[in-house]
Amino acid sequence: MILPAIRLACTAFSICTVSLTVFAQQPATIQPAPDSKAWLLSAGEMSYAVAINDAKMPQTLYWGPRIPSVAGLPPAKMHPEIASQEPPINTTPLEYTAWGGGLDYTPALKASFPDGNRELTLVFDKAEQSAPDTLEITLKDAIEPVYAHLYYQVFPQGVLARWTEIENRSRTSMTLSNAASATWNLPPNPLYQLAWLTGRWGGEFQLQRDAVSPGTRVLESRRGSTSHQSNPWFSIGDGTTTENSGPVWFGELAWSGSWRIAVEETEAKNVRITGGYNPFDFAYPLAPGASLTTPRFYAGYTASGEGEASRILHRFQQGVILPQAPKPKLRPVLFNSWEATGFDVSEAGQISLAERAAKLGVERFVIDDGWFGQRKDDHAGLGDWYINPQKFPHGLAPVIDCAHQLGMDFGIWVEPEMVNPDSDLYRKHPEWAMNFPGRPRAEARNQLVLNLARPDVRAYVFGFLDDLVSKNKIDFLKWDYNRTWSEPGWDQVPLAEQQTIYVKYVENLYSILAELRKKHPNLEIESCSSGGGRVDDGILRYTDEVWTSDNTDALDRLSIQEGFTHAYTPGIMMAWVTDVPNFLDRRSIPLDFRFHVAMSGSLGIGGNLNKWTDEELTASAAQVAFYKQVRPLVQQGLLYRLTPSIGEPGAWVTEYVAPDKSEAVVFAYLHSQQFGSPFPGVQLQGLDAAATYALTPQDEAKAGSLPQRATGAELMGGKLQLTLRGDYDSTIVRLKKE
Ligand code: DGJ
Repeated sequence: MILPAIRLACTAFSICTVSLTVFAQQPATIQPAPDSKAWLLSAGEMSYAVAINDAKMPQTLYWGPRIPSVAGLPPAKMHPEIASQEPPINTTPLEYTAWGGGLDYTPALKASFPDGNRELTLVFDKAEQSAPDTLEITLKDAIEPVYAHLYYQVFPQGVLARWTEIENRSRTSMTLSNAASATWNLPPNPLYQLAWLTGRWGGEFQLQRDAVSPGTRVLESRRGSTSHQSNPWFSIGDGTTTENSGPVWFGELAWSGSWRIAVEETEAKNVRITGGYNPFDFAYPLAPGASLTTPRFYAGYTASGEGEASRILHRFQQGVILPQAPKPKLRPVLFNSWEATGFDVSEAGQISLAERAAKLGVERFVIDDGWFGQRKDDHAGLGDWYINPQKFPHGLAPVIDCAHQLGMDFGIWVEPEMVNPDSDLYRKHPEWAMNFPGRPRAEARNQLVLNLARPDVRAYVFGFLDDLVSKNKIDFLKWDYNRTWSEPGWDQVPLAEQQTIYVKYVENLYSILAELRKKHPNLEIESCSSGGGRVDDGILRYTDEVWTSDNTDALDRLSIQEGFTHAYTPGIMMAWVTDVPNFLDRRSIPLDFRFHVAMSGSLGIGGNLNKWTDEELTASAAQVAFYKQVRPLVQQGLLYRLTPSIGEPGAWVTEYVAPDKSEAVVFAYLHSQQFGSPFPGVQLQGLDAAATYALTPQDEAKAGSLPQRATGAELMGGKLQLTLRGDYDSTIVRLKKE
């Protein structure tokens, strides 16, 4: 479909006004210019142009709305220096720069050589399209046969992937101390606003905003894994951008190890975003003939606000990233034992929970921590992956068979990368834990991190998992990871290779997950790291869902889950209904509200069902049944965050619309009513304006002044009045096209 031409100012890389035609739902394409020195990469509603300039360096020509060709763009040309302080290499929006030639901003690459040289000057060597959707631009150092292969892959969902392979074809070895995937250059604009996600244990995915200003803002994890504290995602608006309108340039890095994204405004007012491996403590030797490939750095552009930027990422994750892409199955309703029984798991106790869970309509029963080794609490057992004979004298079979007979599948918790010093594994192989020889090992939660980069550790971890899954009818693994790195030493390899641990550990993690899935094709896996500490597009290629946060308080969850959806699709966001008062903040929230919050992601139940009253169990069964009706919309529909447009603290609304607009579901939550004020009016989004929709509240008693039917135009234009009152009130309304 071709939309009307629009006029657009200043999105190309010099001040200009370009007349553009925007295409919607266009295929992903790569068009070389006639001179084969410029390429237009188009994906969804975005185009991105790169060209080789007069200094033979690849330069970003354009990143913005889809355009038909590079013909109207200014030529690729090094920009002039700004006094002697800012040479052209600093002032020109270059695609991939090594440190050298006077570059003072964050380099994508930094290398050192045995002869004392520590710079590279990367210039164009050749380009080829290895597939219709993939472009490879090869750069070579001006002196040494050292190559950087820049890869670009376009996806119809509106995403461009970039990554780089550094190849040493020289006769000597070299060491990389910095290897980024890509630098993304934005069109000039003094008003950019950055959004990013920070957090902590129990408080992940908190949205932050600030102006992009001169200097560098570093988003990073140095912790060996993705981290709770910062997530590898960014979004930039032009100062006018809102949830529903305005341009957004966004991206996320697919890496589950230490990572860094530097958002930089230069002296020349260029905004450049460089991301990849974290250079902190990074040293990666490349012997002659060796190469290193960086993680994928995905990015996109939309003219339709932050909500659409998220939906592009959601569609991309569902269509490309997730292991079951392009058509992930619906996530089952799950029960997890952790908050119910803690480490105190037993055959009888779990069977009793399974029986109650099945009656609620639960589809997957998961035993959490505590079933293995000598695991009574978090002091012992990690590493010893045999079934604890006191807790499960007949093995896991009685619980698994019971779950299966009750119509549920079965999952189990593992934390494969860790070891307690009080374990048989550690007593046998103390050298398997990360450490610097002769120095203390810092424990966290009484555990140490196994060095998964070691081939023997990799073999052990794969071996026990394969064994566990092969010998027991296990359908699902909750793969946990409960501490970050300290002392990342690896003294069994030569000194020069020891810091490759940052890359090889994560590569082995991915390869274990991939091999396990290949051998057990029906196995599903959840990525958990003390909650949402390892959520990124890297791990999501191998895991079907994530544990969003250990914080299961429904009020806190609203902001955690809303932040999550900026970067990740809500269908993978596991959310449990748990007991009150909540273990973390002692808050007591009504059951319906707790269900409604959890139902806006992938529903789970984590309370002690043995203590739930008959009334609570009946109400819960009804909620589960209702969730199953709206689950396709929640997990696979288009998410519209309506909370930002409401703009009233304490009122939250989320809408999920079927891609064909035939159906929608709206979740509304009120924290606390004040002064008798009515719940703010809600303007829906994404409906078919011409169609009439029937509106049905989940609870008829809460219908209030809700119309029984209304046109899409009315619902999107007028303010829908929902009746929510008092504290912790919530409602769900379904819409069906008539
Ligand atoms: C941390 C996880 O986030 C929890 O859900 C639970 O699995 C515990 N670990 C178990 O130790």
